[in-house]
Amino acid sequence: MIKTVGVVGAGTMGNGIAQVFAQSGFDVCLVDVAPVMLDRARATMEKSLAKFVEKGTLSAADRDAALGRLSTATAIDRLATADYVVEAIVENIDAKRSLFASLDAITRPDVILSSNTSSISITTLGAATRRPDKVLGMHFMNPVPLMTLVEMIRGQQTSPDSMRIASELCVTLGKTPVEAADYPGFIANRILMPMINEAIFAVMEGVGTPDAIDTVMKLGMNHPMGPLTLADFIGLDVCLAILNVLHDGLGDPKYRPCPLLRRMVAAGQLGRKSGQGFYSY
Ligand code: CAA
Repeated sequence: MIKTVGVVGAGTMGNGIAQVFAQSGFDVCLVDVAPVMLDRARATMEKSLAKFVEKGTLSAADRDAALGRLSTATAIDRLATADYVVEAIVENIDAKRSLFASLDAITRPDVILSSNTSSISITTLGAATRRPDKVLGMHFMNPVPLMTLVEMIRGQQTSPDSMRIASELCVTLGKTPVEAADYPGFIANRILMPMINEAIFAVMEGVGTPDAIDTVMKLGMNHPMGPLTLADFIGLDVCLAILNVLHDGLGDPKYRPCPLLRRMVAAGQLGRKSGQGFYSY
């Protein structure tokens, strides 16, 4: 039975994932090498939970209980008692492979090790462990407390049993799991990133201003955010990294990242987090 969940990486995604598990009654241990990230994560969670209390969708007692179920640590050894793990560290294949090898050594052999990666091969991560049948992708969407989709990625050796257990876990979190095969970008980013990239080409070619392009997609297609606002929200460096994965992994020139995207990332214009992207923040 899954009672204690380990979440590794306390960035935007990691803290959102830790929050939804804690809100659903799991004991959560959030691990990050940087104590400042853990402090920031707790503050972000408190803010998000406060919004739910304000809206009346969560009681103050349930908020306190959720925060009470959260513990933090800087060493992954703390995950020796975890029943399930979600990795949400930096999108770097070497860092992730090395973490999966450590998690394989630390956790019980029956524990499923999942990754929130948006585009790195689950099969490659599984191959860094002695339990590739228990390694899978559990890709949450940002903002995690609000978005109901979880993309579930089956690696080459992931067992049907592991997929079933993880999918049931998503339902317990109030999310909808959708299965995808382990190809670059899975489903979400295979479709989202070419749209964002095309919007950036449209800016570069002067087809429309960022505002015009976003307005067309918002009012014309009922998207909650236009593609350029969304790109700023995701992070332009993240968009570029995912497009590179699609381009390298699928080998089709249609995935080539727009030169304007490359130039903005080179300039440190990464979107909302850096204060400047297609818009100023
Ligand atoms: N926790 C709790 N409440 C939150 C919150 C959070 N983290 N973030 C926002 N809210 C609340 C706001 O307080 C607000 O509450 P009220 O209705 O009471 O005012 C409500 O949610 C709506 O927020 P906003 O008014 O700020 O803005 P919005 O109506 O545009 O909704 C949104 C925000 C849900 C993010 C919406 O814009 C949206 O759905 N955008 C698209 C998001 C998306 O596409 N995400 C996927 C990105 S891709 C990805 O994650 C994967 C990848 O691999 C790249």
